Amino acid sequence: MSVRTEVWPADDPAAIARAAEVLRRGGLVAFPTETVYGLGADALDAAAVRRIFAAKGRPADNPLIVHVAAPEQARALARAVPPAAETLMSLWPGPLTLVLPRAAVVPDVTTAGQDTVAVRIPKHPAALALLRACGRPVAAPSANRSGRPSPTTAEHVHADLDGVVDVILDGGPCAVGLESTVVDVTRATPMVLRAGGLSLEALRSVVGAVDVLSGQDHEAMSRSPGLRHRHYAPRARVVLVAPGQAAARGGEAVAVMSQSPCPPGFVGRWRLMPGDLEGYAQALFGALRELDAPGVETIVVETVPEVGLGRAITDRLRRAAEG
Ligand code: TXA
Ligand code: MG
Repeated sequence: MSVRTEVWPADDPAAIARAAEVLRRGGLVAFPTETVYGLGADALDAAAVRRIFAAKGRPADNPLIVHVAAPEQARALARAVPPAAETLMSLWPGPLTLVLPRAAVVPDVTTAGQDTVAVRIPKHPAALALLRACGRPVAAPSANRSGRPSPTTAEHVHADLDGVVDVILDGGPCAVGLESTVVDVTRATPMVLRAGGLSLEALRSVVGAVDVLSGQDHEAMSRSPGLRHRHYAPRARVVLVAPGQAAARGGEAVAVMSQSPCPPGFVGRWRLMPGDLEGYAQALFGALRELDAPGVETIVVETVPEVGLGRAITDRLRRAAEG
Protein backbone atom coordinates (compact mmCIF):
# COMPACT_ATOMS: atom_id res chain seq x y z
CA MET A 1 0.00 0.00 0.00
CA SER A 2 1.45 3.34 -1.03
CA VAL A 3 0.85 6.66 0.73
CA ARG A 4 1.65 10.21 -0.36
CA THR A 5 4.72 11.25 1.61
CA GLU A 6 4.73 14.90 2.69
CA VAL A 7 7.99 16.70 3.56
CA TRP A 8 7.55 19.55 6.06
CA PRO A 9 10.13 21.88 7.67
CA ALA A 10 10.95 20.73 11.22
CA ASP A 11 11.35 24.30 12.49
CA ASP A 12 7.75 25.26 11.59
CA PRO A 13 5.46 25.05 14.67
CA ALA A 14 2.39 24.49 12.44
CA ALA A 15 4.12 21.53 10.77
CA ILE A 16 5.00 20.08 14.20
CA ALA A 17 1.36 20.41 15.30
CA ARG A 18 0.09 18.67 12.16
CA ALA A 19 2.73 15.93 12.43
CA ALA A 20 1.71 15.33 16.07
CA GLU A 21 -1.89 14.92 14.87
CA VAL A 22 -0.73 12.35 12.27
CA LEU A 23 0.95 10.38 15.09
CA ARG A 24 -2.15 10.57 17.31
CA ARG A 25 -4.22 9.13 14.44
CA GLY A 26 -1.90 6.11 14.10
CA GLY A 27 0.25 7.46 11.23
CA LEU A 28 4.01 7.32 10.61
CA VAL A 29 6.19 10.44 10.97
CA ALA A 30 9.94 10.49 10.30
CA PHE A 31 11.62 13.15 12.41
CA PRO A 32 15.14 14.43 13.12
CA THR A 33 16.92 13.62 16.37
CA GLU A 34 20.44 14.63 17.39
CA THR A 35 21.65 11.09 16.52
CA VAL A 36 19.86 9.97 13.34
CA TYR A 37 16.35 10.37 11.86
CA GLY A 38 13.69 8.22 13.53
CA LEU A 39 10.59 6.58 12.02
CA GLY A 40 7.93 7.34 14.62
CA ALA A 41 4.54 5.93 15.59
CA ASP A 42 2.47 6.01 18.78
CA ALA A 43 4.32 3.47 20.96
CA LEU A 44 1.14 2.42 22.79
CA ASP A 45 -0.87 1.81 19.57
CA ALA A 46 -0.04 -1.74 18.44
CA ALA A 47 -1.48 -1.26 14.94
CA ALA A 48 0.57 1.91 14.38
CA VAL A 49 3.75 0.18 15.60
CA ARG A 50 3.11 -2.74 13.22
CA ARG A 51 3.20 -0.19 10.37
CA ILE A 52 6.78 0.71 11.39
CA PHE A 53 7.91 -2.91 11.03
CA ALA A 54 6.18 -3.16 7.64
CA ALA A 55 7.62 0.15 6.36
CA LYS A 56 11.19 -0.81 7.24
CA GLY A 57 10.99 -4.49 6.43
CA ARG A 58 12.19 -4.96 10.01
CA PRO A 59 12.31 -8.44 11.60
CA ALA A 60 9.52 -8.70 14.21
CA ASP A 61 11.94 -9.92 16.92
CA ASN A 62 13.87 -6.60 16.96
CA PRO A 63 12.44 -4.27 19.65
CA LEU A 64 12.00 -0.50 19.20
CA ILE A 65 13.24 2.45 21.25
CA VAL A 66 10.43 4.51 22.81
CA HIS A 67 11.01 8.28 22.75
CA VAL A 68 9.57 10.58 25.41
CA ALA A 69 9.83 14.28 26.30
CA ALA A 70 10.30 13.99 30.08
CA PRO A 71 11.66 11.54 32.70
CA GLU A 72 8.17 11.08 34.30
CA GLN A 73 6.95 9.75 30.94
CA ALA A 74 9.86 7.27 30.90
CA ARG A 75 9.12 6.12 34.47
CA ALA A 76 5.48 5.45 33.50
CA LEU A 77 6.66 2.92 30.90
CA ALA A 78 8.77 1.00 33.43
CA ARG A 79 7.76 -1.51 36.11
CA ALA A 80 10.67 -0.31 38.25
CA VAL A 81 13.45 2.25 37.88
CA PRO A 82 16.78 0.98 39.26
CA PRO A 83 19.06 3.56 40.98
CA ALA A 84 21.61 3.42 38.13
CA ALA A 85 18.80 4.37 35.73
CA GLU A 86 17.88 7.41 37.84
CA THR A 87 21.54 8.47 37.80
CA LEU A 88 21.89 7.99 34.04
CA MET A 89 18.69 9.93 33.36
CA SER A 90 20.74 13.02 34.31
CA LEU A 91 22.35 12.63 30.86
CA TRP A 92 18.97 13.16 29.17
CA PRO A 93 18.12 14.69 26.79
CA GLY A 94 20.91 13.07 24.78
CA PRO A 95 22.18 10.09 22.77
CA LEU A 96 21.50 7.54 25.53
CA THR A 97 18.85 4.78 25.58
CA LEU A 98 18.04 2.97 28.84
CA VAL A 99 16.66 -0.58 28.87
CA LEU A 100 14.22 -0.85 31.80
CA PRO A 101 11.81 -3.51 33.09
CA ARG A 102 8.67 -3.03 31.01
CA ALA A 103 5.31 -1.87 32.39
CA ALA A 104 2.10 -3.55 31.18
CA VAL A 105 0.97 -0.46 29.19
CA VAL A 106 3.64 -1.08 26.54
CA PRO A 107 2.33 -3.43 23.82
CA ASP A 108 4.22 -6.62 22.95
CA VAL A 109 4.84 -5.52 19.38
CA THR A 110 6.83 -2.46 20.57
CA THR A 111 9.26 -4.52 22.67
CA ALA A 112 9.17 -7.56 20.37
CA GLY A 113 7.73 -9.54 23.27
CA GLN A 114 10.65 -8.75 25.62
CA ASP A 115 10.12 -8.14 29.32
CA THR A 116 12.08 -4.88 29.01
CA VAL A 117 11.50 -1.56 27.25
CA ALA A 118 14.14 0.75 25.74
CA VAL A 119 13.51 4.48 26.39
CA ARG A 120 15.23 7.76 25.58
CA ILE A 121 14.73 11.54 25.55
CA PRO A 122 16.27 12.92 22.35
CA LYS A 123 18.01 16.29 22.35
CA HIS A 124 16.83 17.74 19.02
CA PRO A 125 14.44 20.71 19.53
CA ALA A 126 12.07 19.50 16.78
CA ALA A 127 11.95 15.98 18.24
CA LEU A 128 11.15 17.39 21.68
CA ALA A 129 8.51 19.74 20.25
CA LEU A 130 6.89 16.84 18.37
CA LEU A 131 6.89 14.58 21.47
CA ARG A 132 5.37 17.36 23.60
CA ALA A 133 2.72 18.22 21.00
CA CYS A 134 1.82 14.56 20.51
CA GLY A 135 1.63 13.87 24.25
CA ARG A 136 2.31 10.15 23.76
CA PRO A 137 5.45 8.02 23.86
CA VAL A 138 6.73 7.54 20.30
CA ALA A 139 8.39 4.31 19.16
CA ALA A 140 11.06 5.09 16.59
CA PRO A 141 13.76 2.96 15.02
CA SER A 142 16.19 4.62 12.64
CA ALA A 143 14.24 5.77 9.54
CA ASN A 144 16.08 3.60 7.00
CA ARG A 145 14.99 0.46 5.21
CA SER A 146 16.35 -2.50 7.18
CA GLY A 147 19.96 -3.20 6.19
CA ARG A 148 20.74 0.36 4.97
CA PRO A 149 22.89 2.85 6.91
CA SER A 150 20.87 4.97 9.34
CA PRO A 151 19.65 8.25 7.78
CA THR A 152 21.33 11.49 8.88
CA THR A 153 19.45 13.80 6.48
CA ALA A 154 15.82 14.07 5.34
CA GLU A 155 17.05 13.16 1.83
CA HIS A 156 18.32 9.80 3.14
CA VAL A 157 14.89 9.15 4.68
CA HIS A 158 13.16 10.10 1.44
CA ALA A 159 15.43 7.80 -0.61
CA ASP A 160 14.51 4.82 1.61
CA LEU A 161 10.90 5.46 2.67
CA ASP A 162 9.11 7.62 0.07
CA GLY A 163 5.59 6.23 -0.36
CA VAL A 164 5.51 4.33 2.94
CA VAL A 165 5.81 7.11 5.54
CA ASP A 166 3.09 9.77 5.90
CA VAL A 167 5.32 12.72 6.85
CA ILE A 168 9.04 13.52 6.89
CA LEU A 169 10.04 16.46 9.08
CA ASP A 170 13.16 17.97 7.52
CA GLY A 171 15.54 19.32 10.17
CA GLY A 172 18.73 19.22 8.09
CA PRO A 173 21.75 17.07 8.96
CA CYS A 174 21.89 15.35 12.39
CA ALA A 175 24.53 16.72 14.78
CA VAL A 176 25.85 13.41 16.19
CA GLY A 177 25.36 11.14 13.16
CA LEU A 178 25.55 7.83 15.10
CA GLU A 179 22.68 6.12 16.92
CA SER A 180 22.26 6.38 20.69
CA THR A 181 24.26 4.28 23.16
CA VAL A 182 21.97 1.50 24.48
CA VAL A 183 22.52 0.63 28.16
CA ASP A 184 20.77 -2.23 30.00
CA VAL A 185 20.13 -0.97 33.53
CA THR A 186 18.20 -4.06 34.69
CA ARG A 187 21.46 -5.79 35.77
CA ALA A 188 23.58 -5.35 38.91
CA THR A 189 26.13 -3.44 36.80
CA PRO A 190 24.84 -1.43 33.81
CA MET A 191 25.85 -2.98 30.47
CA VAL A 192 26.36 -1.25 27.12
CA LEU A 193 24.46 -3.31 24.53
CA ARG A 194 25.25 -0.95 21.63
CA ALA A 195 28.07 1.62 21.49
CA GLY A 196 26.74 4.96 20.24
CA GLY A 197 26.77 8.73 20.40
CA LEU A 198 27.50 8.85 24.16
CA SER A 199 30.97 7.47 24.91
CA LEU A 200 31.79 4.74 27.44
CA GLU A 201 34.11 7.23 29.13
CA ALA A 202 31.21 9.70 29.61
CA LEU A 203 28.96 6.93 31.01
CA ARG A 204 31.60 5.74 33.49
CA SER A 205 32.27 9.27 34.69
CA VAL A 206 28.60 9.55 35.70
CA VAL A 207 27.70 6.08 37.00
CA GLY A 208 31.02 4.34 37.78
CA ALA A 209 31.38 0.71 36.70
CA VAL A 210 29.85 -0.14 33.30
CA ASP A 211 30.16 -3.48 31.50
CA VAL A 212 30.30 -3.82 27.72
CA LEU A 213 28.38 -6.60 25.98
CA SER A 214 30.69 -9.20 24.55
CA GLY A 215 29.70 -11.28 21.51
CA GLN A 216 30.64 -14.32 23.64
CA ASP A 217 27.86 -13.55 26.17
CA HIS A 218 25.03 -15.53 24.56
CA GLU A 219 22.49 -14.82 27.30
CA ALA A 220 22.97 -11.04 26.95
CA MET A 221 23.11 -11.25 23.14
CA SER A 222 19.73 -13.00 23.13
CA ARG A 223 18.26 -10.00 24.96
CA SER A 224 19.37 -7.56 22.26
CA PRO A 225 18.19 -9.09 19.01
CA GLY A 226 19.23 -6.05 16.98
CA LEU A 227 22.84 -7.08 17.47
CA ARG A 228 22.29 -10.37 15.67
CA HIS A 229 20.81 -8.75 12.58
CA ARG A 230 23.00 -7.50 9.82
CA HIS A 231 22.84 -3.71 10.02
CA TYR A 232 24.73 -2.04 7.27
CA ALA A 233 24.81 -4.04 4.12
CA PRO A 234 26.38 -1.93 1.38
CA ARG A 235 26.17 -3.42 -2.11
CA ALA A 236 29.92 -2.92 -2.44
CA ARG A 237 32.39 -5.00 -0.41
CA VAL A 238 33.75 -3.05 2.58
CA VAL A 239 37.38 -3.70 3.60
CA LEU A 240 38.98 -2.25 6.74
CA VAL A 241 42.70 -1.41 6.66
CA ALA A 242 45.09 0.38 9.02
CA PRO A 243 45.64 4.15 8.55
CA GLY A 244 48.05 4.79 5.68
CA GLN A 245 47.28 1.47 3.94
CA ALA A 246 44.52 2.58 1.55
CA ALA A 247 46.84 4.35 -0.89
CA ALA A 248 48.18 1.00 -2.12
CA ARG A 249 44.66 -0.38 -2.74
CA GLY A 250 43.62 1.88 -5.65
CA GLY A 251 41.67 0.78 -8.73
CA GLU A 252 38.90 1.89 -11.12
CA ALA A 253 36.14 0.28 -8.98
CA VAL A 254 37.59 1.35 -5.60
CA ALA A 255 36.43 4.06 -3.21
CA VAL A 256 38.45 5.01 -0.12
CA MET A 257 37.41 6.60 3.19
CA SER A 258 40.47 8.09 4.89
CA GLN A 259 41.37 10.86 7.33
CA SER A 260 44.46 11.63 5.17
CA PRO A 261 44.41 13.54 1.86
CA CYS A 262 44.39 11.68 -1.45
CA PRO A 263 47.95 10.79 -2.50
CA PRO A 264 49.09 11.98 -5.96
CA GLY A 265 48.40 9.50 -8.75
CA PHE A 266 45.78 7.51 -6.78
CA VAL A 267 43.27 5.73 -9.07
CA GLY A 268 39.67 5.55 -7.76
CA ARG A 269 37.47 7.72 -5.54
CA TRP A 270 38.92 9.20 -2.36
CA ARG A 271 36.63 10.54 0.36
CA LEU A 272 38.55 12.68 2.84
CA MET A 273 36.94 12.12 6.28
CA PRO A 274 37.15 14.69 9.12
CA GLY A 275 40.24 14.28 11.31
CA ASP A 276 38.29 14.58 14.60
CA LEU A 277 36.06 11.71 15.76
CA GLU A 278 32.97 13.95 16.25
CA GLY A 279 33.22 15.18 12.67
CA TYR A 280 33.94 11.66 11.42
CA ALA A 281 30.86 10.26 13.21
CA GLN A 282 28.65 12.97 11.73
CA ALA A 283 29.87 12.26 8.18
CA LEU A 284 30.05 8.43 8.39
CA PHE A 285 26.61 7.22 7.23
CA GLY A 286 26.33 9.83 4.48
CA ALA A 287 29.77 8.81 3.18
CA LEU A 288 28.78 5.12 3.14
CA ARG A 289 25.58 5.91 1.23
CA GLU A 290 27.44 8.15 -1.24
CA LEU A 291 30.32 5.76 -1.91
CA ASP A 292 28.07 2.71 -2.32
CA ALA A 293 27.37 3.89 -5.87
CA PRO A 294 27.19 2.17 -9.26
CA GLY A 295 30.71 1.40 -10.46
CA VAL A 296 32.13 1.02 -6.95
CA GLU A 297 32.90 -2.61 -6.10
CA THR A 298 35.11 -2.14 -3.05
CA ILE A 299 35.04 0.50 -0.32
CA VAL A 300 38.40 0.58 1.49
CA VAL A 301 38.13 2.21 4.92
CA GLU A 302 41.07 3.23 7.10
CA THR A 303 40.28 2.43 10.75
CA VAL A 304 40.06 5.02 13.55
CA PRO A 305 41.31 4.72 17.17
CA GLU A 306 38.90 2.80 19.46
CA VAL A 307 38.49 5.52 22.08
CA GLY A 308 35.53 7.82 22.78
CA LEU A 309 33.24 7.96 19.73
CA GLY A 310 35.84 5.83 17.93
CA ARG A 311 34.31 2.70 19.54
CA ALA A 312 30.90 3.30 17.99
CA ILE A 313 32.44 4.31 14.64
CA THR A 314 34.52 1.10 14.63
CA ASP A 315 31.44 -0.99 15.54
CA ARG A 316 29.49 0.40 12.56
CA LEU A 317 32.45 -0.04 10.19
CA ARG A 318 32.93 -3.69 11.30
CA ARG A 319 29.23 -4.39 10.73
CA ALA A 320 29.46 -2.84 7.25
CA ALA A 321 32.49 -5.04 6.52
CA GLU A 322 30.87 -8.24 7.85
CA GLY A 323 28.73 -8.81 4.76
O1 TXA B 1 19.68 7.05 18.17
C1 TXA B 1 18.87 6.13 18.15
O2 TXA B 1 18.85 5.22 19.00
C2 TXA B 1 17.86 6.11 16.99
C3 TXA B 1 17.00 7.38 17.11
C4 TXA B 1 15.88 7.41 16.13
O3 TXA B 1 16.53 7.48 18.44
N1 TXA B 1 17.08 4.92 17.02
C5 TXA B 1 17.60 3.70 16.69
O4 TXA B 1 16.70 2.65 16.75
O5 TXA B 1 18.77 3.53 16.37
P1 TXA B 1 16.98 1.23 16.11
O6 TXA B 1 15.69 0.51 16.17
O7 TXA B 1 17.58 1.39 14.78
O8 TXA B 1 17.95 0.54 17.13
C6 TXA B 1 17.47 0.16 18.40
C7 TXA B 1 18.43 -0.78 19.07
C8 TXA B 1 18.42 -2.15 18.44
O9 TXA B 1 19.74 -2.67 18.44
C9 TXA B 1 17.50 -2.93 19.38
O10 TXA B 1 17.74 -4.32 19.35
C10 TXA B 1 17.85 -2.31 20.72
O11 TXA B 1 18.02 -0.93 20.44
N2 TXA B 1 16.74 -2.47 21.68
C11 TXA B 1 15.51 -1.92 21.63
N3 TXA B 1 14.74 -2.34 22.66
C12 TXA B 1 15.51 -3.17 23.39
C13 TXA B 1 15.29 -3.94 24.58
N4 TXA B 1 14.12 -3.94 25.20
N5 TXA B 1 16.32 -4.70 25.03
C14 TXA B 1 17.50 -4.71 24.40
N6 TXA B 1 17.79 -4.01 23.28
C15 TXA B 1 16.80 -3.26 22.76
MG1 MG C 1 18.53 1.00 13.07
